[in-house]
Amino acid sequence: MEVLRSVVVLLHIVGFAVIFGAWAAEAAARRFRTTRLMDYGVLVSLLTGLALAAPWPAGIELNYPKIGIKLVILVVLGGVLGMSNARQRKTGQDVARPLFYSVGALAFTAAAIAVLW
Ligand code: HEM
Repeated sequence: MEVLRSVVVLLHIVGFAVIFGAWAAEAAARRFRTTRLMDYGVLVSLLTGLALAAPWPAGIELNYPKIGIKLVILVVLGGVLGMSNARQRKTGQDVARPLFYSVGALAFTAAAIAVLW
């Protein structure tokens, strides 16, 4: 059971890596667009995060305020991505820079909270 939990934590971190990696790749290429890969990263982080939020195996203690804050950040991130994707589809243009940078900043903040708290 502990090994299974560790595997889910690993997948959870892969979800973060996909969001941040996809964002960093766009930023490095100076494209300033949100991509489908970022959506998939959010989905993986959310599903694995929810699975980890259940107290298993028995006896494990979880930091629910920290989990709650990460959930709020991920929901906001999902909203930003939804908005950006819709604008890109409609106008064909890159998204506004603050919106684009907020994707990287939100993912980074969630990871910082996870590791530092
Ligand atoms: C982009 C958003 C997120 C990032 C970057 C992130 C990052 C991480 C990282 C690096 C860990 C491993 C370190 C640790 O154990 O604290 C972790 C664990 C965990 N995350 Fe997240 N997370 C995110 C979103 C979420 C969400 C939305 C939930 C729940 C709804 C969640 C629930 C958890 C739980 C329950 C653990 C395991 C904590 C434990 O076993 O002590 N995470 N997260």
